[in-house]
Amino acid sequence: MRVGLLGCGNLGRIIVENSKKFGVEIVSLYDKEFSKAVELSKICGKPCKSFEDFIKGEFDFVIEAASAEAVREYGKKILDGRKNLVILSTAALIDEDLLKKLRRKAKEVGKKIYIPSGAIVGLDGLSVLKFFESKIKLITRKNPKALGRNLGLIFKGFVKDAVKKFPRNLNVAATLSLATGKDVEVEVFAENLERNIHEILAKWEFGEIYVRVENVPSKNVKSSHLAALSVLSLLRNLEEEVVVW
Ligand SMILES: NC(=O)c1ccc[n+]([C@@H]2O[C@H](COP(=O)([O-])OP(=O)(O)OC[C@H]3O[C@@H](n4cnc5c(N)ncnc54)[C@H](O)[C@@H]3O)[C@@H](O)[C@H]2O)c1
Repeated sequence: MRVGLLGCGNLGRIIVENSKKFGVEIVSLYDKEFSKAVELSKICGKPCKSFEDFIKGEFDFVIEAASAEAVREYGKKILDGRKNLVILSTAALIDEDLLKKLRRKAKEVGKKIYIPSGAIVGLDGLSVLKFFESKIKLITRKNPKALGRNLGLIFKGFVKDAVKKFPRNLNVAATLSLATGKDVEVEVFAENLERNIHEILAKWEFGEIYVRVENVPSKNVKSSHLAALSVLSLLRNLEEEVVVW
């Protein structure tokens, strides 16, 4: 599978370094800081100076590992360039208008937008809840270095406000909301931890679901290795004859 990578920072590097293991070929690289694309091209892929150059490349998928702004700026253009799009900066999609526009564009050009599970797990089961009454809560704990706040409970509220306040830290809340169609309740704690911890609690008429993930942060303490690797796993799954969901 031939893929272009938009965003050659921390998660981009993990994606590139592990791509071969998952049978994914990163052929093209773009970052607003050209030097970062050049740096990753030492492992694989051609660095592109401009987005226009990048999108002309011969590949079927773009992995977005850049920022919510990049999703806003390039999302439609990527689909117009006849590429499927895998989005990591899911906080951008809490903007219903943008989501609607991207969905419409994807339909028009016959391409898909994929949302990887990112730094959490269990979306297979949790997505069932989209069609049932349910309550879903996410509790995230990160080091104050990642959150830029003092210790303690630093946010309690719902997903839209959560991603507005922490657009780089709460993609998981956005992903959870997209998967379940629910206004997820969110609590964020800054704690002296070595790991980023996400707990998901869901209640519905057929039971309760509890998911806990402890992620060792990557170089960028806000992001976890699992988030990058979930993209490669998703792409790998698309190639398999037997798909385990
Ligand atoms: N879905 C999830 O569970 C999850 C988990 C962790 C991180 N993320 C998100 O993934 C993204 C990447 O994370 P990271 O840790 O690699 O960040 P990073 O800051 O280390 O790297 C981002 C790279 O993208 C580039 N970039 C940013 N905006 C751009 C634009 N408009 N055009 C071109 N290049 C641009 C930057 O120059 C940088 O090199 C972030 O938005 C982060 O919030 C999602």
